[in-house]
Parts: sequence; C-alpha cells; structure tokens
Amino acid sequence: MYNDNPTISDLPKVVDENKQGEVFGAEFAQNQPHTKQFYIESYGCQMNFSDSEIVASILGEAGYGPTRDMEAADLILVNTCSIREKAEETVRKRLRVFDKVKQRKPGTMIGVLGCMAERLKAKFLEEEKLVDIVVGPDAYRDLPSLVAGAEEGEKGVNVFLSREETYADISPVRLQSNGVTAFISIMRGCDNMCSFCVVPYTRGRERSRSAFSIVAEATDLFDKGFREVTLLGQNVDSYKWENPETGRKTNFAELLTMTAAVDPNLRIRFSTSHPKDITDDVLYAMRDHDNVCKYIHLPVQSGNSRILDLMNRTYTREWYIDKVKRIYEIMPDCAISSDVITGFCTETEADHRETLSMIEFARYSMSYMFFYSERPGTPAARKLEDDVPLKVKKRRLTEIIELQTGISAELNAGEVGKVFRVLIEGDSKRSDQDWKGRTTQNRMVVFPKQAGQKPGDYVHVHIKDSSSATLTGLQVGTTVHA
Ligand code: SAH
Ligand code: SF4
Ligand code: F3S
Repeated sequence: MYNDNPTISDLPKVVDENKQGEVFGAEFAQNQPHTKQFYIESYGCQMNFSDSEIVASILGEAGYGPTRDMEAADLILVNTCSIREKAEETVRKRLRVFDKVKQRKPGTMIGVLGCMAERLKAKFLEEEKLVDIVVGPDAYRDLPSLVAGAEEGEKGVNVFLSREETYADISPVRLQSNGVTAFISIMRGCDNMCSFCVVPYTRGRERSRSAFSIVAEATDLFDKGFREVTLLGQNVDSYKWENPETGRKTNFAELLTMTAAVDPNLRIRFSTSHPKDITDDVLYAMRDHDNVCKYIHLPVQSGNSRILDLMNRTYTREWYIDKVKRIYEIMPDCAISSDVITGFCTETEADHRETLSMIEFARYSMSYMFFYSERPGTPAARKLEDDVPLKVKKRRLTEIIELQTGISAELNAGEVGKVFRVLIEGDSKRSDQDWKGRTTQNRMVVFPKQAGQKPGDYVHVHIKDSSSATLTGLQVGTTVHA
C-alpha cells in the first residue's frame, strides 16, 4: 500500500518509488472549463493519491484545472504523508522548491494537504511562512473557500476530522490514470491503535462509504473502459456499512461479492488487510469469484509475539501463522505480501530472527520493509524508548530485504513454464515494443506486443524467464478485448 521506502540510499530498492511525488497532468483531465490552474504533488499511500483525485474534482467545480507545470500554476498543492520522518523531510524539501517559484511569481498560492497538514495544523503556517492554506484529509470540501480567502491574502486552516465524511458523492477526476486500473476509496480513517502508527491521528475515526456508491463507481469505471479496481482503506476487512433506509448491514465479504458482480471482466483488488480482521467469508468470496484477484497484502510488522504485543497488533506469531495457513488452504495459488518494521523498541537479535523466519514461512511474494521511525504523539513515542541504534535498525533492514528479494526471485522462478491470464496495463518500462501487465497474484509480466492490442485487453502469457520483480514471456492464444 505504501511506496516511499526503503529510506536508505545504499540499500537495494525493492519497492517502486516512482510514484512518490507524482504530478498529475492536464492531459488526463476531464474537459472542464477553467480559468485558473492548480498543480498537485502527492506523497504517501494510495489513499493519498486517491484523495488527490477528489481534490481535483472539488477544485474543478471551483474553476481550477490541473497543470503539470508548477511555474504556470496559480495554486501549488502538496498532499503530504507523516508515516515516517523521512516522508515529512521530503515534503519540507519540496516546499523550498515551491518557495523559489513563489519568489519568481508572487501571488502563487501554496497549500499543504493530507496527513502532515493534519498532524501539524496551524503550526505549519508558523514554521513555513510560504504556506497559504493547510487542509486536513476530511476538509477538502472547504478548499474552494479557503483558496478564495487566500486569494484575498487571508491564510486559512481547516483540519477538522469528521466522523461521517467519505466524499461518497464526489466523482474523482482520474488524473494519474492509465485508463485501465483505478482506486476506489471504500472507507476512511482507522480505529486500530498500532503503537507505532500516526494514521489514527492524521485520518481520524474509521467510517465506511455507502456500498451502493462504491458499486456505482466501479460500474462507471467499467463503462469507461477500466478493467481493474482496487478497493482502498487502511483496514478494508473491517468495512461495515448500514443502509440507512433498510438497516441492512454490508460487510467486506459482501462488498467484494457485490463489486465482483459488476462484470466478470472487471478485476477486483483490495488493500490493506489487517490480519486480525480478514475472515473466512472474505477468503471464500475471493476463492469463489475468478475476477477477485488471488492476492492479499497482509502486513505482519514483526515475527515476534512480544514485539507484536508492544506494537498493539492484537495477534501473536502463532495466530498469524495460522492465518497464513488458512489462506493457502482455501486458495493454494494465492500470493501474500507484507509490511515489516525492523528495530522497533526493545527488539533483540532473537526477535529479529523470528521476523526473518516468518518471512521464510509465509513465502511473501514481496514486502514493503522499513526501519522504525518514532512518530511524535503515538503510544510508542509516549511509552516506549526508541532504543535500537539506527545502525542496527538499518543492518536488520538490509537482512530482511536480502531475504525477501531472494524469496521473491525463487517464487517468480517457480512460475516459469506456467501460463497466466494477464491484464494489459500499458507499455513496459524498458520498451514500447513490449506490454506490461499483471497476473491475478499481482506479479508483473512483460511480453512482446502483437498488432491490434490495447491496454485493457486480456491475454494469456507463457512465462519463459523471471527476476525477483518481473516475469517475462510470450503470448499464447488469442487476445480478449473485454
Ligand atoms: N493500514 C495499514 C498500514 C498503513 S501504513 C496496515 O495496518 O497494514 C503502511 C506501513 O508503514 C505499515 O504497515 C508499517 O509497516 C509502516 N509504518 C507505519 N508506521 C511506521 C513507523 N512509525 N516507522 C516505520 N514504519 C512504519
Ligand atoms: Fe496504522 Fe495500524 Fe491503522 Fe494500519 S491498522 S493504519 S498500521 S494504526
Ligand atoms: Fe497514508 Fe502517509 Fe497518511 S501512509 S494515511 S499518507 S501518514
């Protein structure tokens, strides 16, 4: 779900960092008349990227169109992340760049959105003089009036966290889109209290969006040519929505089934699953629908029960192992990925080795791996000492990255010789003669193009070769223009 890592330059990079700081461009924007232009950069998790599309929609209504050219913008926005110190430092650096633009073009407005805005609130305006508006994740509807105020020279802050806001009625402007895959936010906030995590403070209480509006958005995307949606939330398995008219409750397994019914050619993915909440019903819904992808992001964080307890993850090593076994029992071909933190407070070498052995046991297809970064105000910061030296945290991180890279390579090598159904997403990174797409298990496949194909088509690919990150192969059979 997250991709700003690893935070150390000399480590092998297993995570796609390309999207961090991605700028949305006008070429994808809907044809809305606008008199002014905004520029937006997004950092952090998919929720933030998805929120930027809501922001674009709200600003569109207020007469602002997107531009990729920061110098041409009347309004520069940065949608920020607070998850680790490094994420916040990146944003501060970007503000220095925006400052230069503002000096060259006085009158340019600068807005800080997202989790860092929520964490620092009005303090941002004191610390960063160039900033005109500070807007938290639940206050984006207020953007037009805050921007109007800023145009009059009035700095504005709205960091109100809501118990209801889901932006359900706002149709996101698909700015960063490849036209094939899209995110749908199904819930906001988080009610878990993992002791290391800042999200409950920056995103507020958990609330679920209307199931009907989610299915309607998926249907609309399918009608527009999209062939894959990812249902997004910090903890999708605790999705629950009560129909205000009938009182009928919908849980995540039911939502999956409802979304899967939109069309057999619409793939459904979801992220993130908290191990404590993923139920057998969810696993059965996955198994029973071909178009629900056989891939679960199931962050373990640590393989040691004592550390898991300090992290307040509410499961033990044994419990997590049973969950993994259950997943493979119900869906032997399912891929599981993870998030791992090294060097959490009091972590010993023996604890760390249990994390390594967990990675070996679970056979993760990939992991997002981080060293612990203390966040102000979290339970861990208040009650525990950040006592593992940085050097040790980084060495442990290197060890888990090396282990995970080896396992990813082994698992991918095991796919050579098999045939997979792949959804074409676009040109491969290296060559416009090749397509890239994914298997249901979320493995990237690269293969030569054939005439008459386009992104959004399904093909079968016979895998010939592999690395730790990619499978390569050749198409077999005909292309399905779904
Ligand atoms: N809701 C998701 C996680 C969102 S944050 C979940 O519960 O799985 C994404 C990942 O960032 C987390 O899974 C965790 O591995 C990492 N993370 C969160 N806080 C962190 C911190 N203080 N230091 C290092 N990594 C952290
Ligand atoms: Fe953070 Fe835990 Fe909530 Fe994930 S489940 S967002 S790690 S508090
Ligand atoms: Fe996401 Fe970062 Fe906020 S991970 S929820 S943008 S703190």
